[in-house]
Amino acid sequence: MAKVTSEGAGKFNYHYPMLAVIVTAQANGKENAMTVAWHASISFNPPLYGVSISPKRFTYQLIVDSKEFGVNFLPFEAAELAASVGGSRGQEIDKFHRFNIATEKAIRTAVPILKTAYAAYECKLVDDRGYGDHRWLVGEVVAVHLLEEVFPPEEVLDLDKANPLLYLGNELYLTTAKDTIKYLDRKVYGKH
Ligand SMILES: Cc1cc2nc3c(=O)[nH]c(=O)nc-3n(C[C@H](O)[C@H](O)[C@H](O)COP(=O)(O)O)c2cc1C
Repeated sequence: MAKVTSEGAGKFNYHYPMLAVIVTAQANGKENAMTVAWHASISFNPPLYGVSISPKRFTYQLIVDSKEFGVNFLPFEAAELAASVGGSRGQEIDKFHRFNIATEKAIRTAVPILKTAYAAYECKLVDDRGYGDHRWLVGEVVAVHLLEEVFPPEEVLDLDKANPLLYLGNELYLTTAKDTIKYLDRKVYGKH
């Protein structure tokens, strides 16, 4: 198959799908939520998680003011919610009220935790750096919320119980297919 090459970034979403998460924050009596596709685990010890957020987002201001943020991992059923909070501005509306978003209490921070999330991290901001037109915000994970029934003890997400929300770009959402799971032990496969 021939590969098309081009200089520069082009549309810059050909490496998708990405996990679409909802980042939450609160400060000065206001809470907010936005969808984020650019995010990553950074370190086990200390546990660090990074999110790439444009300084134009209202959420960015709340995170800077409170030094905290939440990362909410969503099931596929929450796709409309991701499109809603990713398509509206917290400066103009109360998204929690407008989109009827149910929350749970955080335990180590004051960030809103979404009821619909199958997993969520509470993070304390430890770094905020600009890269191009986005800020890379690094948070230390100070609390983890996991929906018990979708995470069997010592195991990974049970795809019969929750399907993660993926984003393909161009406003297209999808999820995983359980019949593609393969167990490949790296210790075996890494031998040569
Ligand atoms: C699927 C999806 C992924 C997005 N990913 C990001 C992202 O990684 N970083 C970012 O700054 N904005 C991202 N956005 C845009 C914000 O969610 C959007 O601008 C939102 O309205 C910001 O809300 P706020 O101004 O209330 O904080 C994404 C939007 C969608 C729909």
